[in-house]
Amino acid sequence: MEQVVQPEVALKQHTIWQNGQTPEPCAVVIFGATGDLTQRKLLPTLAHMMHDHPLPQSFCIVAFARRPMTDEQWRAMALDSVNKFMAPGDKLDEKAQKAFAQNLFYCQSDFNDREGYQKLADLLERLDEEKGTRGNRLFYLATPPTTDSEIIHQLGGAGLARQQHNNGDEESWTRIIIEKPFGRDLVSAQKLNRELARVFRENQTYRIDHYMGKETVQNLLALRFANGIFEPLWNQKYIDHVQIVVAESLGIGTRAEYYEESGAIRDMVQNHIMQVLCLTAMEPPVAFDADAIRDEKVKVMRAIPALSQEQVASNTVRARYTAGVVDGESVPAYKEEKGVAPNSTTETYVALKLFIENWRWADVPFYIRTGKRLPARSTEVTIQFKRVPHQLYKPSETKGLVPNRLTIRIQPDEGITLKFGAKIPGAARQLESVDMDFSYAKAFGIISPEAYERLLADAMIGDSTLFIRRDEVEASWRIVDSIINGWKSMPADSVHTYPAGTWGPKEAEELIERDGREWDTP
Ligand code: BG6
Repeated sequence: MEQVVQPEVALKQHTIWQNGQTPEPCAVVIFGATGDLTQRKLLPTLAHMMHDHPLPQSFCIVAFARRPMTDEQWRAMALDSVNKFMAPGDKLDEKAQKAFAQNLFYCQSDFNDREGYQKLADLLERLDEEKGTRGNRLFYLATPPTTDSEIIHQLGGAGLARQQHNNGDEESWTRIIIEKPFGRDLVSAQKLNRELARVFRENQTYRIDHYMGKETVQNLLALRFANGIFEPLWNQKYIDHVQIVVAESLGIGTRAEYYEESGAIRDMVQNHIMQVLCLTAMEPPVAFDADAIRDEKVKVMRAIPALSQEQVASNTVRARYTAGVVDGESVPAYKEEKGVAPNSTTETYVALKLFIENWRWADVPFYIRTGKRLPARSTEVTIQFKRVPHQLYKPSETKGLVPNRLTIRIQPDEGITLKFGAKIPGAARQLESVDMDFSYAKAFGIISPEAYERLLADAMIGDSTLFIRRDEVEASWRIVDSIINGWKSMPADSVHTYPAGTWGPKEAEELIERDGREWDTP
């Protein structure tokens, strides 16, 4: 089958600023600066942005963290991470490393120390004068969720949340980015939202979900709302069911402490998967702007009823990996990972069936599955269409035919495949399913931006379209809470097991096979 792609070309650098807009000078203040996210993602991303895209000259990164360190030590640590975690093709030469490092500053303090925030306020004022950051601040909470409230409260107390005035003429801005997990249930998310609202206005608040920064996730909107051919079919008349699969071959790494408390449902379903589901299922927004898009996402979640205890028992499966082989390497069981309690009941795998009770999606099941230590890393949305109302061909002629499927590959090998039936050439009437394939890399020849880069750039220019609004986060917890509460009343052995390196427990296969369907395994 001919592929709908352009000839291969060398990959070009992407743009990150919308309509050529560049941000105003600013200071990015990172809380939790010595943590995993900062080292692996934020610093390499900021270094790449500084080097490859026009960032303002007056741009500083201030680390606010507990560990005693000088500016020089922090610079050396940051450069280490940049060198280690930046994509191989992006590495900075010595001159660029020096230029990056001279914009880094360190403020040592405990998160609950009032004086530390005063010290931070003084440092930021000094940088406004010396570096020209003009009173613009972007606070980034890359901290464990337990510290969020304290930091927000202290920022407010030190007067750091105010949008100040600069020399009486130009208004400066202050924004705050908060990492997931946002709360650990509906009640704690509501509490955090209230605490935030006491200090920051909603339009200063950027709740981040890095899946929204992925090009392929944003392309769900383009695919649906910029093409005449899909939208008329995008409903319960033509769609049999939808699958959202987020598979990871990685385990929990060094994050046992976090993961034990979170499990797959809080780590992946409440945020990333719910966002992908919303973009797949929402109505066309009235405009391409932050509120219009987020209004439609919230409506999707409101149309998903909380699951009853019976529905949790029949429509959800949770499981934990046992020892196995992934990518040719033996890996230990979850319970043997360092930092995991021997009697842990945390799930590393979830499969679910949900319904969106609205006009468009009545009776269309959405099957979701996500897990760690599966055979491959693959995130896909599959739209499976209904079969033709009357089959002209004999069963023996259509043995090789599967229903029409549109598979949206979020990662890796980003692209879209449409499966349809075709006749095998020759006198015999034999049909087979074939693929029509689109690949981002081949079609555009552009390197997709790293999700964090897109989102940091948007926060700097004040565009919150790809960030999560207060009501969204609460709507999602309402659904997820009902599942977690259902699990609480179930026996511990209802957490099934699967060997690492397999696609999950047999119960997850049964969940979908009971309905006469099967998982679309990559
Ligand atoms: C994070 C989760 O939010 O997303 C991790 O905490 C997970 O457990 C990661 O591995 C997956 O992100 P990506 O971009 O690699 O799919």
